[in-house]
Amino acid sequence: MELKIENNNIPLKNQKLEALVVFVAEDTDVNGSGLKDLPDELNKQLSTSLKLRIFNGKKGSSQHFVSGYTKIPQMLAIGVGKKNELDAETLRRAAGKAGKMLPALKANTVGFVLTSLLQNTTETDAGQVLVEGLTLGAYEFNTYKKQENNKSNTKFIKIHCCDPEKLTSLNALKNGKILADGTNMARTLGNTPANDLKPKDLAAEAKKIAKQYKMECTVLEEKDMKKLGMGMLLGVSRGSREPAKLIVLEYSHQKAKQTVALVGKGVTFDSGGISLKPGKNMDEMKFDMCGAAAVLGAMKVIGEINPKLNVVAVIPTTENMPDGDAQRPGDIVTAHNGKRVEILNTDAEGRLILGDALSYVVKEFKPDAVVDLATLTGAVITALGHLTTGAITNNDDLMEQVRKAGINSGDRVWQLPSFPEYGESIKGKYADLQNIGVGDSGTIIGGLFLEHFIDGTPWVHLDIAGTSWNVKHIGYHPNSGATGVGVRLLVDLVQNWKTLK
Ligand code: BES
Ligand code: MG
Ligand code: ZN
Repeated sequence: MELKIENNNIPLKNQKLEALVVFVAEDTDVNGSGLKDLPDELNKQLSTSLKLRIFNGKKGSSQHFVSGYTKIPQMLAIGVGKKNELDAETLRRAAGKAGKMLPALKANTVGFVLTSLLQNTTETDAGQVLVEGLTLGAYEFNTYKKQENNKSNTKFIKIHCCDPEKLTSLNALKNGKILADGTNMARTLGNTPANDLKPKDLAAEAKKIAKQYKMECTVLEEKDMKKLGMGMLLGVSRGSREPAKLIVLEYSHQKAKQTVALVGKGVTFDSGGISLKPGKNMDEMKFDMCGAAAVLGAMKVIGEINPKLNVVAVIPTTENMPDGDAQRPGDIVTAHNGKRVEILNTDAEGRLILGDALSYVVKEFKPDAVVDLATLTGAVITALGHLTTGAITNNDDLMEQVRKAGINSGDRVWQLPSFPEYGESIKGKYADLQNIGVGDSGTIIGGLFLEHFIDGTPWVHLDIAGTSWNVKHIGYHPNSGATGVGVRLLVDLVQNWKTLK
């Protein structure tokens, strides 16, 4: 299902659509939700439903109407909650809910009404946010379903922003679509099974983006990694027949004064290696490249919107498999920055491949800041569930920018403590470092391991193991599978970038 976005300033009474989406605030009547110009027939239906309290406009509520009004035979009312609590994220989720219901409407031209009530609640253009939510909500992963695949091939839905008051612009609406499309691309990369998405396929995606948006793309092969001394990445890759890759994708802007590096974990399948994971839910480890997917999705959006900043994306990508030649617990490898690392658990592989990638990017590109995204630890799910990304940082100012980007985008982030004592247990017994610590707080320990490879560069590590898949109760996220978390967060960060203090 592909959405095509249009903007029109036709009065509601003259609109001709197969279905119309309206957003209704809690405990209001039709006028109170800014819909007084709704055609009489639809107005009557909605009023009655509100009066009888069949529908109340609460967050998460919705009602579908079928009317005899031939110009608009269907209406979908979506609750947005209390007027004075309205914000961009509420609108995005409400639109997401509408997006999820789109297939059931079986309509090819669908409008939604933009009112000043909605526009005044958010700093971001409400039209943009609504298109973003709709496009995210309408996402489906059908690649491997013959029947639905055939259906969706023919499905092309025109979405009209009905904007009689001229509150938004086609440009803003398109921005919403671009953000959602980048996120949906990351979702599809995440959902694609590991037999069809290998390190070489992530590299091909990066090359495609580079070609489309005139970026620079270099893919380092294992022989290059050997020369560069990336013993941690190579150690993980030994267990797999698929060669590892280190993808470098560079976006630059002529007027850029600063460079931000984005690093994403690209383990296309994590079996755990010799420290093999249990069989239950191991299939979910195809999501272990969602950090890489977020970075690629963000780069695609960046290519569309041309921010005034240099952005270098680095993706270490490999499978983590238990081959006869795989690395063993107890092995000691040398990292790109020369540190020796004892592998105590081959399943703590994300920090190994990221460590080499971080060390490489700070040395070669000297970025002003680095943000890494990784499905690094199961422990972050214990700490924060699936609704908030966990963060570790060495720079409060950068952390604050990332936190704000989280609020703006809906990809919310929460900083975890990183007192140095947490890092004591990864100091090595036989080497400089070891790849796991002892005791709890695994997410913090994983983050602090990475800090050994950042050479003091301002840095935020984002553990997206919880937020990147199987998120429930958010209107614009699918009920299962990859969420594309991080794409809109990174784009917001880059767009609103401020030189660090
Ligand atoms: N890919 C996993 C993290 C993960 C686990 C994501 C569960 C989603 C759900 C990562 O590579 C891993 O295996 N981490 C280990 C680290 C441990 C050995 C210190 C973990 O979290 O168990
Ligand atoms: Mg290999
Ligand atoms: Zn692992």
